[in-house]
Amino acid sequence: MDTIIENISNVLGQAFTLCGYDAKYAKVTLSNRPDLCEYQCNGAMAAAKVYKKAPLTIADEVVNQLKEDVLFEQIESVKPGFINICVSPAYLTEFLNTMSVSKQFGYVPKVTNKTVIVDYGGANVAKPLHIGHLRSAVIGESIKRIQRYAGNTIIGDVHLGDWGLQMGLIIEELRDKNPNLSYFDEFFLGEYPSEPPFTISELEQIYPVASKKSKEDETFMERAHQTTLALQGGNKAYTAIWKHIMNISKADLKKNYDELHVSFDLWKGESDSQVYIKDMLQQMNDNGLTYESQGAMVIDIQEETDKKELPPCIVQKSDGAALYATSDLATMVQRELDYHPDAYIYLADKRQELHFTQVFRVAKKAGIVKQNTDMTFLGFGTMNGSDGKPFKTRSGGVMRLEYLIKDIQEAVYNKVINNRDMSDEEALNIAKIVGLAALKYGDLSNQASKDYVFDIDRFISFEGNTGPYILYTIVRIKSILSKYQEEGNSILCDKVQAASSDIEKNLQLSLARFLDMIDMAYMEKAPHKICQYIYEVSNIFNQFYHSTKILGEKDKEKKQGYIALICLTKDILLTCIDLLGFECPDKM
Ligand code: ARG
Repeated sequence: MDTIIENISNVLGQAFTLCGYDAKYAKVTLSNRPDLCEYQCNGAMAAAKVYKKAPLTIADEVVNQLKEDVLFEQIESVKPGFINICVSPAYLTEFLNTMSVSKQFGYVPKVTNKTVIVDYGGANVAKPLHIGHLRSAVIGESIKRIQRYAGNTIIGDVHLGDWGLQMGLIIEELRDKNPNLSYFDEFFLGEYPSEPPFTISELEQIYPVASKKSKEDETFMERAHQTTLALQGGNKAYTAIWKHIMNISKADLKKNYDELHVSFDLWKGESDSQVYIKDMLQQMNDNGLTYESQGAMVIDIQEETDKKELPPCIVQKSDGAALYATSDLATMVQRELDYHPDAYIYLADKRQELHFTQVFRVAKKAGIVKQNTDMTFLGFGTMNGSDGKPFKTRSGGVMRLEYLIKDIQEAVYNKVINNRDMSDEEALNIAKIVGLAALKYGDLSNQASKDYVFDIDRFISFEGNTGPYILYTIVRIKSILSKYQEEGNSILCDKVQAASSDIEKNLQLSLARFLDMIDMAYMEKAPHKICQYIYEVSNIFNQFYHSTKILGEKDKEKKQGYIALICLTKDILLTCIDLLGFECPDKM
């Protein structure tokens, strides 16, 4: 369905035309003076220049056409030529009731039916999942859900870092620890064991040891390099170890992502792209795109409009090895073959911006993707501690995601168990749901590209711009609704009545705005717009709640109207939090 802004713009457009002006001047926006009106149109100012008339005259003429229109409670022209608008309660009510019975509240995205690859998560196999990866997973999951809501076909891929030096490091450390394993016996001709030579906790310990060693011991580092190359070249023994590492790590990663309510359609990684590299490089070479620079093969990406100099993209190192960029490009080759996407969205730390500029440009230059394929890099900022530096554990190490989630859930648990009368089991369950909401909302409510401070105490507060506050509001509505049902009534969400107070109308207007908001969050790939919106709706709802006797209302019809209104409020809030990737408990 059309949004209220579109409806008013249409009606205003007809009036502009009737008065002899182009309808394009009838653009309506939300009012920036809510104390004066709800919507406004500033088009008379621009039209005045073209038609050489006073803006106020134009605004007057247009307004005169519309005085009687049922859409408006009030429409007036004010100096120097603004048109101020308040919609009629009857129209607004009808609008909300239509939203209530329509699929997705009547949301019709203008751009839809696209196939979109969302590349997020990006964990590195065999290295512990740390908070650097939290943002990618949390923001990516929300972007994916918003894209899906807008009717696109989404393929979410975790794109594991599973092909790098860490593999060589682990294999060499394993050799030092257990030189007698069959994998390290050059003359071994049998089948390698199907059981892995390590458990997940052993594997987790191997990497940090190996990584430290490689920094102190040059020969070890060189061995790791050679082993990585051999693995990438198809060495059987190393491949067998690599498979064990992959199986064990993937199972562990899945557990972590499940915990976060983050899921992927594809569990592919850098390693899956390797088979496409040779042909891809050959073709780039045949097309004259690549040239040699200090032994490496590179492709220029500089464009005339660039304000600064951008280095060429290296697609092959002097020793013949592929790089991060090569594997991202080859992954596109595979994705084009398998999915023919219209768009790609990548999530990674914003420090990877240059990398993505390079691969996007090369992808278009080399014809790997179509010229009109929409390529987006969503670079996110750093999560900082209260000292403004990247978040660390108390002992100064990189905080593991698992512990971070545990910490926040524990804090919520302590809060609810101390202040509420409930069983341990119930409190634990609530802490799980609310803790995750606190964590995700704390992250998503910031514009993704900005750094933010991770502050558990603030994130878990039941007041202010937090996840728990939003959940608390929904729980409050749920509780009113169930009391209403206990009184023997049934809830009908499409029985919203004409507002009888300013605050009630305000709540109605805020719900109608869902349609504009959701399209903006989708088009701008901006989950923080949803957070902003639900914070606003929650605030308005709570004002309404404190100033209105909902269940105490004597007039049955009016009461039914209130119930419908808060039911729609709840449904919209629930939809929004689902798009952000969290849930709401029944009680908290
Ligand atoms: N594994 C990478 C890292 O930890 C992130 C991967 C991002 N995605 C991509 N297609 N490059 O930094």
